[in-house]
Order: sequence, then structure tokens, then C-alpha cells
Amino acid sequence: MQSMTQRRVILWGEQIDNGNVRLPGRMMEGTGKASVKASGSCRLTQAVTAQRTFLWGTRSGTRYVQYKRNVLRKQRHWEKIVTAKKKKRKQEKERRKAKHAEDKGAAHQHSKRVLKAITKERLLAAKEAAPWLCVDLSMTSHMTKKMFVLSWKEISRLAAQIRRLYGSNKKAGKPFWICLTGFVAGSPISEECFRMNDGFSNYLMDTTPESYLDLFPLETIVYLTPDSENALQDIDPHRVYVLGGLVDESIQKKLTLQKAQEHSLQTARLPIAEYMVKNANVKNYHSETLAINQVFDVLSTYYETQSWPEALKAGVPPGKGYVLQETAL
Ligand SMILES: C[S@@+](CC[C@H](N)C(=O)[O-])C[C@H]1O[C@@H](n2cnc3c(N)ncnc32)[C@H](O)[C@@H]1O
Repeated sequence: MQSMTQRRVILWGEQIDNGNVRLPGRMMEGTGKASVKASGSCRLTQAVTAQRTFLWGTRSGTRYVQYKRNVLRKQRHWEKIVTAKKKKRKQEKERRKAKHAEDKGAAHQHSKRVLKAITKERLLAAKEAAPWLCVDLSMTSHMTKKMFVLSWKEISRLAAQIRRLYGSNKKAGKPFWICLTGFVAGSPISEECFRMNDGFSNYLMDTTPESYLDLFPLETIVYLTPDSENALQDIDPHRVYVLGGLVDESIQKKLTLQKAQEHSLQTARLPIAEYMVKNANVKNYHSETLAINQVFDVLSTYYETQSWPEALKAGVPPGKGYVLQETAL
């Protein structure tokens, strides 16, 4: 019988994942770089590289399989240890992460509570000492005269502007006291405010179905309208400033001016023409009519800084086609 070691041709195999050995070809004895392990009647060689274990062997089937099993058993054992260590490290990392988030959450919660209390205090103080800012929502029906789809879009935009206005006031160094007048329960604007503005019922402001005309002495009211002849000079904490709850300048020109004049109210426009100039732009578009939250940003910045250029810079968006006069700042 020919001994195994004398055979000229040996098979080589590549160990693959499922533990099987693929035998794709032949190689001449002695050409492998790995050392040769003689084992009884069979000759096997193992060369372990970073990714693969190579096995060389004779055609002696059973010994070959036996050897392969030993290698695989050790390998599986080692892999189990590595996997368990990895799992433990991962669990430990997750535990640390959760604890960190918990600690941070507690600190954050605490500071959030404190901040909320400070804001509340400032806003409530404004009710007593600061100027009042009313948004007159009695005209939202004017918006519904337009196409139905558009009107809802406008109502939604108005609700979003009320949210921004309130948000700016909350952050302001010197807040106003805000009041929504003509705010009728169940009206489209009230429903949209509750639907779109998170926590609307907790907003620190007044909402009333009544008119500002019935709430305040007429001589204290200043209706802000872009069509007024009078530029606003200053903000008086004893006055009530009214903004028209409208979103689209194209609805009706001079609507708020006429309304104010009907009741002989004082009117004022922002002093845009006094501090700003028209810039050259492609569309040649210039408008002094702002959204209510933008008007409020101007008022609020002015009330804090006493500077109209700074206030106009803060509230008039570049898209309106105006820039500050060079000498203004
Ligand atoms: C979009 S505007 C509506 C303009 C509308 N055509 C009107 O008759 O008032 C919304 C409101 O913001 C205020 N407003 C907008 N631009 C203003 C400006 N330049 N000066 C004073 N108030 C302004 C007004 O109270 C106005 O009613």
C-alpha cells in the first residue's frame, strides 16, 4: 500500500464560515509555506491568516474531518469568549449612557422649571407695568370672503404668526402684555390656534371675544396701521397698541386705517420711511406692510433698546425691499 506521505498530489481546502472545507483545486506537495504536521496516516497543514484558516490534507477523509473539527471547536470556543466580552462591553456602555442621560435630564428638568418660573413672573409683571399689545381678531371674517382654500391658509398663517409673536414676547428683555381681542370660541382662528400652537391654552396672555373698544379708554388706544400718516415716535407703557389680525396686505388696503378712523382712534405706522431707504432689487418690490409678528419684533426691540434703527433692523425682513439708511446706525 502506498504510504500517505509518499503521495505526490495533495488537496488543499479553504475553511469557510459554516465549518465546511471547500476543496477547489490541487497543489503540489511542499509548495505551501506552512509547516507540515504528520498525524498518523494523514498529513495536514494549517496556516492561519488574519481572515482565513487554510487546511492542507491528503485524501484520507476521516482524519481530515477530525482535524478540522478540533480546529473549529477551538475557534468557536474562542469566538464565544470574544462575543461574550463584546456583549458585556456594549451592555456596560449602554448602562453608562442611560445613567448619563438620566442625570442630564434631571438637571435639564430643573433648569427648565426655573426658567419657566422666571418667564412667568416677567410676563405677569408686564401685565401691570408694560404696554399692552392687542391683536384685533374681529376681522378674520374678511379673510373668509376670499376663496375658501385660501382663507384657511390665511387663518393658519395668522395662527402661526400669533405663535411667533408670543414666542418673541416670552424671550424679550422687556415683554409687553398680550391680548387677543375678538377671539371667539369655536371660530376658525381660535380652532386653528389651539390646533397649531402647542400649549396654546397655557399661553400667558389674555384672550377675549370682546372688542378692544369696550375694554380700554379710547384715548389710550393707538391702532397701528401701515396706512397711517403718523410715524410712531415712542412706546408709552400706559398705552394699548392694536394690531390688525390680518395676514394678507392685498385683502383690503387701508382696512385698519378706516376702522380706526370710524372710532376716532389715534393711528401710527412704523417709522420705516424715516430710517430706511428702498434698495435696488430685481423684482423692484418694496412694501412697508409687515406681518404682525414682524411688527411686534420692531416694537419689542425698540421698547428694549430705544433705538428705531436697531428695531427696524430686527423686524423688517430684507424681502420687503428696504435697508437702513447708512447714517441710521
Ligand atoms: C398684514 S398687515 C395687514 C394690512 C392691512 N391692509 C391693513 O389694512 O391693516 C397686519 C397688521 O400689521 C400691522 N402693520 C403691518 N405693517 C405695519 C406698519 N408698517 N406700520 C404699522 N403697523 C403695521 C397693522 O396693524 C396691520 O393691520
